[in-house]
Amino acid sequence: MVLLGKLFTETLIGNEVISLEGELGSGKTTFVKGAGKALNINEEVISPSFIILREYRGLKPLYHFDFYRLSREVHVLDIGFFDIIDSPGVKFIEWGNKFHNLKKYFDYVIKFEISFKDLRIVRICERDE
Ligand SMILES: Nc1ncnc2c1ncn2[C@@H]1O[C@H](COP(=O)(O)OP(=O)(O)OP(=O)(O)O)[C@@H](O)[C@H]1O
Ligand SMILES: [Mg+2]
Repeated sequence: MVLLGKLFTETLIGNEVISLEGELGSGKTTFVKGAGKALNINEEVISPSFIILREYRGLKPLYHFDFYRLSREVHVLDIGFFDIIDSPGVKFIEWGNKFHNLKKYFDYVIKFEISFKDLRIVRICERDE
């Protein structure tokens, strides 16, 4: 999954917004670890779930949101979400599907599914304009 996240991120221009959707433990954070490798980020990318947002500096900025513990949609404003998605950098949002109004901001939706044991099914959906 780290490799897939790395390869996917290498295809990006560097300003995209990507929603990562799928059950607990399906590989969303692991995918973003690969994004960190693609962007030459030296720090280890770790789950932002308790603090909602982690930022990293690399070839391009990496913003890693996790909305799992965000209780109300208005809090999306408080964390500066709309300012960040308009600024340079790659933005991944775990549980981006929690607030349906945000869908229109996503360039990609990536759906993770636990298949069998360690197998994961990953569907990458690009927004059609
Ligand atoms: N093929 C695989 N790809 C990714 N993770 C795997 C795979 N097989 C097993 N795992 C395990 O599944 C777990 C995935 O955890 P990860 O934190 O990436 O999930 P998550 O989707 O971010 O969950 P959460 O919604 O809790 O944040 C890890 O413990 C990892 O070791
Ligand atoms: Mg996670």
